[in-house]
Amino acid sequence: MSIQVSDGVFRLHTAETTYLFRTTAFGHLESLHYGRRVEDADVESLRYKHEIPHGSTVLYDEKADPSYCLEELPLEWSGVGKGDFRVTPMELRLPDGSFTCDFVYDSHRIESGIVKMDTLPQSAGIGAETLLVTLKDKAFTVYLDLYYTVYEAENVITRRAVLRNAEQAPVLLKRLMSYSLDLPDRGYTVATLSGGWINEANVIERKLETGMLVNESTSFSQHRHNPAVALLSRGATEDSGLVYGFNLVYGGNHQTSVELSPTGLVRITGGINPYCFLWELQPGETFETPEAVMTCSLGGKNGMSQNFHAFVQKQIVRGDWQNKERPILINNWEANFFQFRQNSLLRLAKRGKRLGCELFVLDDGWFGARNTDTAGLGDYTVNRKKLPEGLEGLGKRVNGLGLSFGLWFEPENVNDDSDLYRAHPDWAIQRPNRTPALGRHQKILNLTLPAVRDYIVENVSHILDTCPIAYVKWDMNRKVSDFEDGAFLHRYMIGYYEVLSRIFRPRPQILLEGCASGGGRFDLGHLCFAQQIWASDDTDPIERLRIQGGLSLFYPVSTMGAHVSMAPHQQTLRHTPLFTRFAVAAFGAFGLELDPMDLTPIERKVLTSMLSEYRKIRKTCQFGTFTRVDTGNPYIIQWQAQSETQTVILRAKTLTKAAQVNDLLTVTGLDPHKTYTCREIQNPLFVAGFGTLLKHILPVKIRSYSHILLAANKRLKMDDYAEQYRASGAQLMAGVQLHRSFIGTGYSEKMHMQGDDSAMLFVITEDS
Ligand code: DGJ
Repeated sequence: MSIQVSDGVFRLHTAETTYLFRTTAFGHLESLHYGRRVEDADVESLRYKHEIPHGSTVLYDEKADPSYCLEELPLEWSGVGKGDFRVTPMELRLPDGSFTCDFVYDSHRIESGIVKMDTLPQSAGIGAETLLVTLKDKAFTVYLDLYYTVYEAENVITRRAVLRNAEQAPVLLKRLMSYSLDLPDRGYTVATLSGGWINEANVIERKLETGMLVNESTSFSQHRHNPAVALLSRGATEDSGLVYGFNLVYGGNHQTSVELSPTGLVRITGGINPYCFLWELQPGETFETPEAVMTCSLGGKNGMSQNFHAFVQKQIVRGDWQNKERPILINNWEANFFQFRQNSLLRLAKRGKRLGCELFVLDDGWFGARNTDTAGLGDYTVNRKKLPEGLEGLGKRVNGLGLSFGLWFEPENVNDDSDLYRAHPDWAIQRPNRTPALGRHQKILNLTLPAVRDYIVENVSHILDTCPIAYVKWDMNRKVSDFEDGAFLHRYMIGYYEVLSRIFRPRPQILLEGCASGGGRFDLGHLCFAQQIWASDDTDPIERLRIQGGLSLFYPVSTMGAHVSMAPHQQTLRHTPLFTRFAVAAFGAFGLELDPMDLTPIERKVLTSMLSEYRKIRKTCQFGTFTRVDTGNPYIIQWQAQSETQTVILRAKTLTKAAQVNDLLTVTGLDPHKTYTCREIQNPLFVAGFGTLLKHILPVKIRSYSHILLAANKRLKMDDYAEQYRASGAQLMAGVQLHRSFIGTGYSEKMHMQGDDSAMLFVITEDS
């Protein structure tokens, strides 16, 4: 049993953590402990001591207990107007017109698995147990149900709150968060993922001082601020120290507040953003908040990440593709944009197939008058000029090449220049008295309207059922404007999840990739439907190290769409080596975003052998235990993925230092007593990249711009030195010194000829 309740004390245990709270003499829920697993925790030692009250406080019931002050208590929930002045998880206008409320213990029960939600996606409940504690306001028959679902194996506890109005009059909700939790201060730093378009998932760490840090979004989950938040205790590293992680199974406007009170308590509360939020709860109605996910690890940031990865993989992602290796895809977007015909697509697909791709994806531009991004969105009529045999014909031909077929949709948006908008201008979100603000020349469809939802479900489903489609990319390319209020946006989310459920739950065979101008909607709500999400429109691998590395704090590798594109990269003009593009995308749901004809013949050959290498490591990269290895050098980024049979290491160098000779490769998680072979995947060198340096190496002098060199560069490659070691696990964990990189003093075959932005991939297997 992971949940035990006795004498008013609630004990929630996961494999490595314990979460404890109790009811106080006044019926409030007092937080006692969340952290290291404590088998028979002694409540007296854990409780926050408050025998002597602080000065300048408001006492809850001075006569009954002159030291009981809500502001000083660590609480599981709090209200308004009874002496707790910290950020509150709830602001309600009750039938007496006042915001003062006081919710106290009423009852509790334990259920196996989860208690199903009505409107929002939630975790799967496999092997879980749920505690429901019901609180009631002292003055009104308004109930608050607090749900705690314990995932023992994954070290995760989820929380959510449901408000039930049993009064005869409405209750107005201004704010109702999913959870609130108070922890003793440990010198926390708050880590969030923030950024923007093509600049997603920067890890921002801010020291928590007395006061509040808020992570929120006012246009769905979007690029600016991901809903996930971590609390790092002072001194926590990648591998050690107490770290908490919080996330929401929700992609609407979100908010997480972390407040350090003057008396050293940290309150964290998260859920729907109260921004413009007003929800009238009629008599007899309930309001459910999104599920929040919490984890805690003493194993530093990697410990937290690994808990989240296991949880997301098992309890969030679903469908036939949940645990299946993702197909190597070729997407035509960066190769064609809107300019294509069936024949050119088939040529592209054929080239992809020759390289080793398994899925061909037709991106934007196949319907209506969609020849630019100013028209066509909202329509589903296939553009017969581009695709004379329709999607069905194209799909069949793609299948005939030995590839499965995938298709792009952007169902939530509409262009003014579309048949849909001409027929139903009232279906777009806009205010009657204002000129609507556009984003990428488009408006958002009002998914709170049943007719709009039906239109999308029917059109998308029809295509999925009449064409041989194995994969869908669901895009969403604008932020919201011209809305009524925050409650409308929440209703939009409920409508959105209904649409996804109706389309994809009956079709679990389809691999769904979410996308919102890249990683604008990377959240657990979305991952309940989409097995993977396009992480960013920025495909430069050096940028991707930061983006995928940032996302890895909270999300597993299998969920991150990552593609090899052409260099110089569209987003940065950086010229990166092909191998680096491959190696970074290997730690993701891998694909190509290019036309192979733009590569040289030798690059195509090399890429073909990379894809065949990839098939041997794909399972480990996508589903193995993922670790960020701190190399001590901010310019050397190392990731590791480990399965039962294999360890794969990516080591990327973003800035080369001249004459730096020490290059230590350390591995983690091996058996010290076993022997392993560590092999580096062959890294190609293309001759033109060496410019005038060739003069020093070759017996004949060749100018760097000569025709001979350029011709040779198309067809010939050299091989960089590939490391290989046979060593004990203990040795590999202690570290092996890699061979030197070229520093201009001479040439040896046992030397690396890689500079800035290079990458190495190592595969480690146990010797039999
Ligand atoms: C934005 C996506 O992120 C791109 O990959 C591509 O699908 C375009 N939209 C198409 O309009």
